[in-house]
Amino acid sequence: MSTRTPPLTPVLSRLWDQDRSWTREVYERFDGYQGLRRALTKAPDEIVQLVKDSELRGRGGAGFPTGNKWGFIPQGGDKPVYLVVNADESEPGTCKDIPLMMANPHELVEGVIIASYAIRAKHAFIYVRGEVVHVLRRLQNAVQEAYDAGYLGGDILGSGYGLEVTVHAGAGAYICGEETALLDSLEGRRGQPRLRPPFPAIAGLYASPTVINNVETIASVPSIVRNGPDWFASLGTHDEDPRKRSKGFTLYSLSGHVTRPGQFEAPMGVTLRELLQLAGGVREGHELKFWTPGGSSTPLLTAEHLDVPLSYEGVAAAGSMLGTKALQVFDETTCVVRAVLRWTEFYAHESCGKCTPCREGTFWLVQILRRLENGEGSDEDLEKLLDISDNILGRSFCALGDGATSPITSSIQYFRDEYVAHYEQGGCPFDPTAATVFAAAGTSAGARAR
Ligand SMILES: Cc1cc2nc3c(=O)[nH]c(=O)nc-3n(C[C@H](O)[C@H](O)[C@H](O)COP(=O)(O)O)c2cc1C
Ligand code: SF4
Repeated sequence: MSTRTPPLTPVLSRLWDQDRSWTREVYERFDGYQGLRRALTKAPDEIVQLVKDSELRGRGGAGFPTGNKWGFIPQGGDKPVYLVVNADESEPGTCKDIPLMMANPHELVEGVIIASYAIRAKHAFIYVRGEVVHVLRRLQNAVQEAYDAGYLGGDILGSGYGLEVTVHAGAGAYICGEETALLDSLEGRRGQPRLRPPFPAIAGLYASPTVINNVETIASVPSIVRNGPDWFASLGTHDEDPRKRSKGFTLYSLSGHVTRPGQFEAPMGVTLRELLQLAGGVREGHELKFWTPGGSSTPLLTAEHLDVPLSYEGVAAAGSMLGTKALQVFDETTCVVRAVLRWTEFYAHESCGKCTPCREGTFWLVQILRRLENGEGSDEDLEKLLDISDNILGRSFCALGDGATSPITSSIQYFRDEYVAHYEQGGCPFDPTAATVFAAAGTSAGARAR
C-alpha cells in the first residue's frame, strides 16, 4: 500500500481556477502561446523529433506514440496534409476533454497550431461532439481570438506559415469518435469505420495524409515545447524498455461514488488509492466495490487493484486497459448486473450496424442481461453471455464491439456469485423492495440504493 503524498501536476489545469480562464488574455498570462513562438523558430521536423523524445502517447484511449504518428505523414506529395482533433468524447464515464475545452480552449488551439506546423498541415479540423453546444461556442470564440491576435491565418506571427482552423459539430454518435468513422462523418457521410489499410496517415480526410489526435494529446504539446521533452519525460513511469513506459502528466477523471469527484491532473502511474485520497475517498460510510480504469470499454477492476499503477503497462498487467483514464467508482450499493446492463444497452444503441458480430451480438447481450437482472436467468444464460462475448471480441470490425464485451466478461470474472444470486433469488438482490438480501454484498437490502 502506498503512503507517499499523492502528487498533482497541474499543467493543463493550471489556470482552471482563474476568473474567465478561457480567454486569450488569461491564457497569455500563464505562458500562453509561448510554445508556439518557440516552435516557429524551429524546423517542423525538429518539432516532430521533440514530441518523439518526450514519449507522449495518445490520450484518446489506445496510447499510440504521438511523435511516431506525426512521423508517418509522407511529405512533399501533391496532396494537402490535414490535422483532425478528435473531440467527440462520448464514452460513458469519459469526461476530460469537455472540461478542458471549457476551461482552457486556448491550450488546445495552441497545440493545434504547433502540431499542424510540425506535420506541415495548412488546414486543421476540430470535430466536437454535437450535443455540447456550450463547448462549441467557447472553442469558436477561442479560435476567433487566435485569428485576431495573428496566431491563425495566412502568416502566423510573421513566420510565413499559415493555418486555417475549422470547428465542426458532430451529430452525437459514439461511433464518430472512432477515428475513421469520424473522417467519414467529417466528409458529410454516415459515420462508419473504414477498412484499414490504407491508414489515415496515407489516405485520411479527403483521401489525403491525416493525423488524428485526441484533445488532451494535442493540448499537451505546448507545454512540451515550452519546457522541453526531458521535463515531460521526467514525469511518469520509468523502465529500460521504452515500450513499457508511460510518460508525462495526464487528466484522471474520478466520478461516481466518491466524496469529491472531478479532474485530477497527476503523473502517469499514480494509483487509484492515491487519487481517492485527493478526492476525499469513497463516499462516507461506504466501500469500494468495483471501478473502471478508463471508461466503460475497459474491463472492471475491484478493491484488490487499488495499488495498480495507472499507466498503460500497469493497468494492462492487471488485466484491463488505461483507456481514457475515466475512473468510475462504484460502492457496495451498486448492482453490478444492472450497471453492466446499462452499459450494454448503450453499446447496442450506438453499434453502427456495419458488422454482424457487434450489430447482432450487442442486441442479444441486452436481452440476456435484462433477463438476468429481472431474476429470470439461468446458468445457461451466463454461459451464453460469455459465448456471445467471445464471438464479438476480436471478430468485430472496430473496437466498439470489443469494448462492449469488457464489462460483461470482467464482471462475470469478479462477480459471478452476484449474477447467480439474481436467478437463485428470482430478482435483483439490490432491489430495496426485495425480501431477500444478497449476503456477499455485506449490507442490508434496505440500505441499498440504485
Ligand atoms: C467506438 C470508439 C469511440 C472512440 N471515441 C473517441 C473519442 O471520443 N475521442 C478520442 O480521442 N478517441 C476516441 N476513440 C479512439 C480513436 O479512434 C483514436 O484512437 C484517437 O482519436 C487517436 O488519438 P490519440 O492518438 O491522440 O489518442 C474511439 C475509438 C472507438 C473504437
Ligand atoms: S464493431 Fe460495431 S460499431 Fe464497429 S463497425 Fe462493427 S457494428 Fe459498427
